[in-house]
Amino acid sequence: MTKIAIIGAGPCGLSALRSFEQAEKKGEKIPEIVCFDKQEDWGGLWNYSWRTGSDQYGDPVPNSMYRYLWSNGPKECLEFADYSFDEHFGKPIPSFPPREVLYDYILGRIKKGSSKNKVKFSTTVTNVVYNGSNFEVTYRDKKKATSSTDFFDYVVVANGHFSVPFIPEYPGMKAFPGRIMHSHDFRDAEEFRNKNVVVLGSSYSAEDVALQCHKYGAKSVTIAYRHNPMGFKWPKGMKEVFHLDRLEGNKAIFKDGHVQEADAVILCTGYLHHFPFLSEDLKLKTGNRLYPPKLYKGVVWQNNHKLIYLGMQDQFHTFNMFDCQAWFARDIIMGKIKIPNSSEIEKDINKWVSMEEKLESADQMIDFQTEYTKELHTLSDYPKIDFELIRKTFKEWEHHKVENIMTYRNKSFSSPVTGSVGPKHHTEWEIAMDDSLKTFLNQSKK
Ligand SMILES: Cc1cc2nc3c(=O)[nH]c(=O)nc-3n(C[C@H](O)[C@H](O)[C@H](O)COP(=O)(O)OP(=O)(O)OC[C@H]3O[C@@H](n4cnc5c(N)ncnc54)[C@H](O)[C@@H]3O)c2cc1C
Ligand SMILES: NC(=O)c1ccc[n+]([C@@H]2O[C@H](COP(=O)([O-])OP(=O)(O)OC[C@H]3O[C@@H](n4cnc5c(N)ncnc54)[C@H](OP(=O)(O)O)[C@@H]3O)[C@@H](O)[C@H]2O)c1
Repeated sequence: MTKIAIIGAGPCGLSALRSFEQAEKKGEKIPEIVCFDKQEDWGGLWNYSWRTGSDQYGDPVPNSMYRYLWSNGPKECLEFADYSFDEHFGKPIPSFPPREVLYDYILGRIKKGSSKNKVKFSTTVTNVVYNGSNFEVTYRDKKKATSSTDFFDYVVVANGHFSVPFIPEYPGMKAFPGRIMHSHDFRDAEEFRNKNVVVLGSSYSAEDVALQCHKYGAKSVTIAYRHNPMGFKWPKGMKEVFHLDRLEGNKAIFKDGHVQEADAVILCTGYLHHFPFLSEDLKLKTGNRLYPPKLYKGVVWQNNHKLIYLGMQDQFHTFNMFDCQAWFARDIIMGKIKIPNSSEIEKDINKWVSMEEKLESADQMIDFQTEYTKELHTLSDYPKIDFELIRKTFKEWEHHKVENIMTYRNKSFSSPVTGSVGPKHHTEWEIAMDDSLKTFLNQSKK
């Protein structure tokens, strides 16, 4: 019997488990599956942890989520085709849910089956090598403090790529009297109430961490971009300046001559694709981009087709793209999809990579990833979902952000699965301090 290892039980690993579960439901004989996750429970980044640094076993904490995080894209864009929000919550819910609500949704469909039995929790994969006929996977049971090795025909790498921070250094950091941290370790914006905060970066973490600090009462928030500013109309108390030059005592000095007193510097400088457990010949080496090279259809490792990577792209599309990838990978593993010869693979990868290299605007990037996801969708029996509506929703969302960065989360969109429209939330995001599932779902309560 074919045996597969899935590394990670976050949204991508769960998509893989679900894809096999659905095939089994249709009466197909599925491979033997072992999924490993170094956390105590599933859900990946969505399984919020207060911990930073290492866990109680000395293993690095993978989690980068923070309290008070709300979805930064409309939930309609990430909806599962086989399990709608309406089905999970029993009613339509607003378009921008907080973390706890999305976590509940992600787990909803998988909890209904028996996939949990396939997951070894608190178990870190430490080494994967290909011996010419199969993979030798070594893993460490953290609770028992034991290591074991098993053999697998396929390995699915689903360990995420927003867990290992990229941490640059700037002159003056060693002598800075305040707090310097990476967004990976950011947990609670309350910590920065009445503080002058400097945020480095110009992508989603910079935008959202800066907004969080402002929302929870920071005295000032100064965002420093390196290449291109985000350029939103920031509210009073927030501003965007050009690139940090150095810190001098508690002063941040920027390359545009701006000087700002700072109590804290938060590095929203992105993450590293990090696979310490893979041998060099199996390791994906890439930055955070929409089409990492050497991956056929964005998932199959070009040099060894029995190695699958899920979710390694920079992400507009998330959960339903992960599903399309997982369903496609499942059908390769089960022999339903044949991989073409190496020159066709090379041609297909080059086509996507060269298209990606020409992208300039957010709208073009949305189009690119929508086309990629649509193509994958046609290759398996993943259920029907309206990707054209998702494309349109993403573009409207981008434009709402440009109109007003403080109010875009109050907008509503239609479901690409059921067509239902997200109701207006009872409290505008800017003043919604209680982000619990209970309060969010209680639509009659103020
Ligand atoms: C701060 C932040 C906010 C985000 N907000 C959103 C959002 O609002 N909406 C959205 O759609 N997406 C959001 N994302 C994107 C996020 O990447 C996806 O939602 C999703 O979590 C990716 O799933 P994944 O399974 O690839 O990775 P992860 O969620 O990172 O899961 C990977 C899993 O692999 C496990 N693992 C890692 N290494 C090993 C190992 N060696 N052995 C065993 N297990 C291992 C980890 O424990 C983890 O459970 C956010 C990302 C970040 C960083
Ligand atoms: N739900 C939410 O609200 C939410 C919140 C946060 C994050 N997220 C998600 O988290 C994921 C990761 O986002 P991310 O913003 O952490 O990573 P990212 O998108 O990879 O962006 C990294 C940023 O770091 C900047 N940078 C890198 N090196 C730098 C340096 N030396 N000095 C200054 N800036 C530097 C880059 O700037 P250059 O462009 O100049 O290279 C870029 O702006 C995304 O999928 C996002 O959607 C979601």
